[in-house]
Amino acid sequence: MELLAVVCLCLLTWSGTTFAAGNGPDVIKMVVKEGDDTILPCSLSTREDIVQKLFDWKRDGQKEVFLYDAGVTYGKDHPGQDEQFKQRVFHFPDQLQFGNASIVIRNTKVTDSGNYTCDFPRLQPRRRGLIELVVGAAPAPVTKILKVTEDGVVLQCEVRGASPKPDVKWQDSDGNVLRAEEPQVSERGGLYYVSLLTTVTKTSTNLFHCVSTQKDIGHRTEEEIYVPERLLEDKSCHEAPMFIGGWFSGVLTVSVPLAVLVAAKYIRKRRNKGEFKRLIGSYQHHRYFELSHVQSLISSFI
Ligand SMILES: *[C@@H]1O[C@H](CO)[C@@H](O)[C@H](O)[C@H]1NC(C)=O
Ligand SMILES: *[C@@H]1O[C@H](CO)[C@@H](O)[C@H](O)[C@H]1NC(C)=O
Repeated sequence: MELLAVVCLCLLTWSGTTFAAGNGPDVIKMVVKEGDDTILPCSLSTREDIVQKLFDWKRDGQKEVFLYDAGVTYGKDHPGQDEQFKQRVFHFPDQLQFGNASIVIRNTKVTDSGNYTCDFPRLQPRRRGLIELVVGAAPAPVTKILKVTEDGVVLQCEVRGASPKPDVKWQDSDGNVLRAEEPQVSERGGLYYVSLLTTVTKTSTNLFHCVSTQKDIGHRTEEEIYVPERLLEDKSCHEAPMFIGGWFSGVLTVSVPLAVLVAAKYIRKRRNKGEFKRLIGSYQHHRYFELSHVQSLISSFI
């Protein structure tokens, strides 16, 4: 229960620690937001002075994070520190006398995530501390109206560069999850990029939410979007004519000369001026001339 309580606290505060009892050294789990500084704790319970001692911090058992050896740390006289941690990791000199070997990692990156060990290899008995660090990135989703289609308004939600991988969903203002297309997910440098499309129709509020959840770090962000009523109204008399009109003018430039040509041929053959006039007249009167109409007229002449 205690463990659960601490986990919840950690999730609520977004940055925190949990203590899990298990075999071997206790694991301290820490969750921080990318860009923040984080202190990885490590102290001897005896509080003995370690100013003249050696302690070594590694990540995932191999990457050299930080080393302190009786006053000497990684630097030009003491190479070996992993590039990733250069100039970003420091100890607390005034804490050494209390057996405190904690370090601070400045400006954390998602790629700093991993299992860290704090080791006193020369102490008897040998003591180690284990810390699991999860550096999360939780950008807020970005929403926009992508297009208006026959079926409704297509909304796009993008989460750009999140870690761990976010779960992205569209919801209406009552919190109901909306049907969406398969999310497009890509990964670069440990960060996930997610794009999710949904098609919406009129609701009582015309408000929609994109929710990004990262369970591992207990994070949830959302972005609301309002879709103007006119985009959601009966599209046959508002948005549609713009598109259909454009489409028909394209069709007309091709089909009308063709129709006229066919008609002219017909007239030459039949000398039927009345029919030709009717064809031209119907073109002038119908701005949104239908292709099927043109076709049926053409076919009626052939
Ligand atoms: C060790 O030092 C750090 C940095 O000053 C501090 O945050 C932490 O509380 C100290 N740990 C203990 C056990 O005193
Ligand atoms: C730490 O180690 C455990 C066990 O090997 C592993 O499951 C976990 O993913 C590691 N944590 C990170 C942040 O890499």
